[in-house]
Amino acid sequence: MSYQDVIQQARHKTEPLKSDRFIKISQREDRCDLPRSAWTPLLENSYLQTWKGIVLNKGVMEIALYPMLLYELRPQTIIEIGALNGGSAIWLTDHLELFRIEGKVYSMDIDLSLLDENAKSDGRVDFLQGDSNNIATTFTPQMLAKLPHPWLVIEDAHVNLVAVLEYFHQQGLMSGDYLIVEDTNPLMWGYWKDNWDDADNIEEGGRKLEDLRSWLKNHEDEYLVDTYYHDIYGYNGSKNWNSILKKA
Ligand SMILES: C[S@@+](CC[C@H](N)C(=O)[O-])C[C@H]1O[C@@H](n2cnc3c(N)ncnc32)[C@H](O)[C@@H]1O
Repeated sequence: MSYQDVIQQARHKTEPLKSDRFIKISQREDRCDLPRSAWTPLLENSYLQTWKGIVLNKGVMEIALYPMLLYELRPQTIIEIGALNGGSAIWLTDHLELFRIEGKVYSMDIDLSLLDENAKSDGRVDFLQGDSNNIATTFTPQMLAKLPHPWLVIEDAHVNLVAVLEYFHQQGLMSGDYLIVEDTNPLMWGYWKDNWDDADNIEEGGRKLEDLRSWLKNHEDEYLVDTYYHDIYGYNGSKNWNSILKKA
């Protein structure tokens, strides 16, 4: 393959109208080209990963993929469910600025005491205290109606997934918007099972892929899997399996 071929292929794959890029969930398999054994070294020190000194809990592949998606999508609104330390919200905001996108990040967590002081004082992100079990209280229909599109909605709290997806579906996801369900890869939940204390979180998290598939069964023409971002590092080669979705 020559450099010319590389450039041509990238152009072909990123072309939004190419019919082989966006496909229905029924055409996707629940598997990954990276073996189970790869996930231990990828996860065991992942708590050391930071952005501007703040914990950034994204997979290494996602760290490469998100900037490409942000540049392509140019989201005006990013909604993140699960802020943790605030690192990912600041990282997303920095990329919006880097790409001169006039967007805003809203990041919700049930426990905002986890936020890093530098994330809190940054001032560009709206950090919202809220519970995925009662999402409409934080992201009210009135608030959502005012948020400009395109949206990027990222579910990263691993709680009440189906209801959260249905809520954003009902309350305004539009054609062209993206929905990402983080951590659908069941192999990584196998690792967390042996290394994490919160049993409820592990059980619900381990079901994310199944839950997503069951929800998508009723929406399979509306939310298409973006195979470009999924398969760059091998089939489903990241923490996210079949969960980078574009609204048709
Ligand atoms: C995986 S972490 C988020 C990681 C972060 N987005 C990042 O990439 O750095 C999950 C977060 O979800 C939050 N969480 C757990 N249960 C929740 C709930 N019921 N509602 C909202 N947030 C919740 C936890 O407090 C935790 O901070």
